[in-house]
Amino acid sequence: MLDDMLDYIEFIRERPVWQPIPEELRHRLRSALPTAPSDLSAVHDQFMRDVLPYATGNTHPGFMGWVHGGGNPVGMLAEMLAAGLNANLGGRDHAPIEVEREVVGWMRELFGFPETATGLFVTGTSMANLMAVLVARTSALGTSVRRSGVQGEGPRLTAYTSAAAHGCIAQAMDLSGLGIEALRVIPTDVFHRIDLAALEGAVAIDREAGLTPFLVVGTAGTVDIGAIDDLTGLANFAARERLWFHVDGAFGALAMLAPELAPRLSGIERADSLAFDFHKWGQVPYDAGFLLVRDGTLHRNTFASPAAYLRRECRGLAAGSPWPCDFGPDLSRGFRALKTWFTFKVHGADRIGAAIARTCELALYLKRRIEAAPELELLAPVQLNIVCFGYRGAGTSGLEAEIVADLQESGVAAPSTTTLNGRTAIRAAIVNHRTEERDIDAMVKAVLASGAARVKSRAA
Ligand SMILES: Cc1ncc(COP(=O)(O)O)c(C=O)c1O
Repeated sequence: MLDDMLDYIEFIRERPVWQPIPEELRHRLRSALPTAPSDLSAVHDQFMRDVLPYATGNTHPGFMGWVHGGGNPVGMLAEMLAAGLNANLGGRDHAPIEVEREVVGWMRELFGFPETATGLFVTGTSMANLMAVLVARTSALGTSVRRSGVQGEGPRLTAYTSAAAHGCIAQAMDLSGLGIEALRVIPTDVFHRIDLAALEGAVAIDREAGLTPFLVVGTAGTVDIGAIDDLTGLANFAARERLWFHVDGAFGALAMLAPELAPRLSGIERADSLAFDFHKWGQVPYDAGFLLVRDGTLHRNTFASPAAYLRRECRGLAAGSPWPCDFGPDLSRGFRALKTWFTFKVHGADRIGAAIARTCELALYLKRRIEAAPELELLAPVQLNIVCFGYRGAGTSGLEAEIVADLQESGVAAPSTTTLNGRTAIRAAIVNHRTEERDIDAMVKAVLASGAARVKSRAA
């Protein structure tokens, strides 16, 4: 099994990025509950035949869709060790929790957070953003909100983020009971950064109306085009207005590891909370989301729920309080920290930072390729590792979605789409450390071929 997976990664280029699941296979994967045992080797054979070839393909250097990390073999081996230990990191006194605490310490150091800041591995940034909204809510309303909820006569809280923010911010408002309507969506400038003057105006209007602004969410690396909000401007504004300042740095926060990119995150060190993923630019295998909170006491007071069966002691296995379960909703927690710990220790933070910087250089290379092709046009400024572009010319309306599907089905490359100013864009997010110029070239060549063929068939 180990050899198969190491071969899979080593020879990934020889495979299609992605291929559709045959209907017959989909059908076969709907069998009844296996009541009798099977040979391990037979199940492994089925995995190799039915599962592995039809995966998303994000380990492949031609994968450029959404924001998917490429993982790394060291992280894979660490996952094997973690599964062997079968550790539960909800609580108690054991070394796996100390490993997670060590990673928390590294992140405090990286982002300039104080010793009193707390952190926690979670599934992904969607979950980390939700938890940050809950901590901000507790900060605004006090811990009594945990009993009374938000349905009473208390202040009406309002939050602020930009039109370029990820949808999980609105979802966090929904899930926290504050409601999506309490989130003000602030317009952006031409670079897709939050418009600070519009933000100021929206907060003033809400205060005037007797509402209670409590939270502003900045983004370090927007999902559509990789824009970074003016984090220092947001930090200043939040301090002046006494708002909780949260940063969604899902992929962009780890640009902090690249010295040439880190200055662009200036102000992140002043966030009250920060959400990001190791499984994107950090190249750690899925899933490894993370939340860092400046005020560790408030973080704990937002989630800790005493129970007789979780009693803490000064000695024995029940020592080591506070436990990770005091800082989030999960009581059962896997050992996500180990693959992150191994990845950072074996490769070193500088090398991960260099891989991140390299993806931004590749994005600039792709930008130049697009500028040189008369059939293509850039649809957004390239600021980090994401390039959005369209196919030019009469009779090409709506062509981009077809081209992207063609590319995905060809197995050559897998970009995705987004909508910018009402237009569908081909979107290439270069996240994988394996991607090279030849992969960009192959993608551009396939876009041009698909576009030309489709224009021709439309004209016919
Ligand atoms: C800016 C931003 N925020 C949040 C998320 C959600 O992160 P996750 O998929 O880890 O939940 C993403 C995912 O791409 C993102 O780009």
